[in-house]
Amino acid sequence: MLWMSIDREKPMSLIRQLYTEIRTKILQGEITTGYKLPSTRSLAAELQVSRNVVVEAYDQLLAEGYIESTQGSGYFVASGIYLEQHARIRKQAEPQPQNIGEEAEPCIDFRSGVPALELFPRTVWGKMVQRVCQEAPASAFGYGRPEGQPELREVLSRYLYRMRGVQCEPWQIVMTSGATQALSLIAKVLLFPGSTVQMEDPITHDIQTIFRSAGATIQPVATDAHGMVMENLPKSPLTTPSFVFVTPSHQFPLGGTLPIQRRIQLIQHAREMDCYIVEDDYDSEFRYESAPISSIQGLAPDRVIYIGSFSKILSPGLRLGYLVLPPSLVKAYQEAKWFTDLHTSTLDQLALGHFIEEGHLEKYISRVKKLYKKRRKCLTDALRQVFGEQVCIWGESAGLHIVASFAGITFTHEHFAALEANGVRLYPVEEHAILKGRHEDKVIIGYGNVSEEQIQEGVSRLKSVFDRWM
Ligand SMILES: Cc1ncc(COP(=O)(O)O)c(C=O)c1O
Repeated sequence: MLWMSIDREKPMSLIRQLYTEIRTKILQGEITTGYKLPSTRSLAAELQVSRNVVVEAYDQLLAEGYIESTQGSGYFVASGIYLEQHARIRKQAEPQPQNIGEEAEPCIDFRSGVPALELFPRTVWGKMVQRVCQEAPASAFGYGRPEGQPELREVLSRYLYRMRGVQCEPWQIVMTSGATQALSLIAKVLLFPGSTVQMEDPITHDIQTIFRSAGATIQPVATDAHGMVMENLPKSPLTTPSFVFVTPSHQFPLGGTLPIQRRIQLIQHAREMDCYIVEDDYDSEFRYESAPISSIQGLAPDRVIYIGSFSKILSPGLRLGYLVLPPSLVKAYQEAKWFTDLHTSTLDQLALGHFIEEGHLEKYISRVKKLYKKRRKCLTDALRQVFGEQVCIWGESAGLHIVASFAGITFTHEHFAALEANGVRLYPVEEHAILKGRHEDKVIIGYGNVSEEQIQEGVSRLKSVFDRWM
């Protein structure tokens, strides 16, 4: 992910600005040898500039030896003495901790989407894995089926019906390596150069990249505090989308929950356009003020490709996710999965099946939900206490992060660098914006993997830095 911004007001050509941004990132070691730059097409679309601007900037960097290009496989940061020397200089110049003998203050990282890693149920999970190792037939250690283990998919279909109102038979499920692989498979099956995808704006930058890499054009649909605004959906039959992508339970990053009226409008839109809805339900289990909202899939199983993940409710390190597909798409996705990585780890799938079947997952979710509720309260109370009327908070009713803005602050690279230098890390909403320039006042503050003490300390560090700007 490469965060870049250009300023049309600057008295410097767009080509020069882009060239300078990338060159600086290389010189500062932010991107290093072998790093693949975005394609000219995707970067041009992201920055809303003509492709020529990117081509010319890349050409200049190529000519000066900062980057290399291999026919057909893109542009990469070049290797070479100059960069290595620079890295050495940078290392030598790194500031030493001021208080010799004392540990440097570790950075408090408010990264979103990371669950409480210290709470992972190691003992119970270990028992499940041990059981699989002892009891599974020898075939479990061989090659499996691309769609995954029938035992797990059977248990999962019942869990999804119970918890999310998802209507499916076990054979409609394809297990994946996290939601991210589910998204890549969707791109592989449904997108090709010239395809169109209608997406919430802002939305996870990596997801935009996955769809753009398949050659798709993204039509941004602005969101408000309740998610996608249906009136903003382009309706021209000339650009029928392959699908509309939504995170309706908990819009990422702004945090809205799509109301039922909009869900119905969305289904009508998909029917009129004869396209699919991709419903990414990445962290829907964590709702703090009301019961989780049923999936859109349950309302229109023939139109919806549903994505789920165990990254937020259990651990991103497991890399376990899944797709629930309309019957007509199942075969294509089984093939796509097979030709991607054959199948997801059989042993992990079987362990997960036992973990859900024996009720450990639901018990664990209810335990961590209480913890997240406390952390969320600690964070929002601390922000309101310290910043009063000057802070505005979005999306606090669900998930593992909030979005906040602070009166008078428009965030730039310099702001994030200053925060980092003061031991606290926040994340820009703008990084996830498709149309740039509308969310520079907002930051994402994740609280899943930070303790209450870190939250208190983090907010006081924010205050000391923000005081300079407010
Ligand atoms: C909206 C959304 N969907 C999916 C994912 C990816 O999750 P996974 O770890 O299952 O690949 C993310 C990442 O945090 C996300 O923000």
